[in-house]
Amino acid sequence: MIDPMQSLTDEHERIRAMLISFETELDHFEQAQKPDYDVLQGSIAYCQEFLDNWHHPREDALVALLKRRAPKDTMTCEELEMQHSKLAQSAAKLVRIFEAVEHDAHFLRENLVRQGRSLLRDYRWHLDWEEANFFPVLTSNLLPEDFQQIAARFADTADPLAKNPVDQRYRALLGAVGDI
Ligand SMILES: [Fe+2]
Ligand SMILES: [Fe+2]
Repeated sequence: MIDPMQSLTDEHERIRAMLISFETELDHFEQAQKPDYDVLQGSIAYCQEFLDNWHHPREDALVALLKRRAPKDTMTCEELEMQHSKLAQSAAKLVRIFEAVEHDAHFLRENLVRQGRSLLRDYRWHLDWEEANFFPVLTSNLLPEDFQQIAARFADTADPLAKNPVDQRYRALLGAVGDI
């Protein structure tokens, strides 16, 4: 049976590797070197398409189970939902800036760096926070039947960095992450 906690931990590892590749290309972009735009774009798309649409909703589904098992532990649940919503807004803003930069809005280049760094910082903090505060609360409160109930959702792997065949839009990012 799929272990949802192990899936989340593995995903966090891939997300951290993606953030390193993302930061490298952001550094190149800031230093006016030629970044690998495919990796840069892949990283930004990954935040929105995989993290906002897949990784976080499955954590939110675990929150729903947690609310049932530990109704008093609402602070962790509310904090997590707030962080997910803030990260989604931040990624959407970065997508809009990246699209504008692609259309030659030179004045927005420094906005891209600022917003990208802010998202990087927030993501690293978020992953650490979840591992220190959210995952332990899940493992100490949820019952085996809860994990069994949600396992099917985790069996559906959507992570483009774990998929075979590879989604072409993420090929460059996968190559960069593989070199880490
Ligand atoms: Fe999360
Ligand atoms: Fe997470």
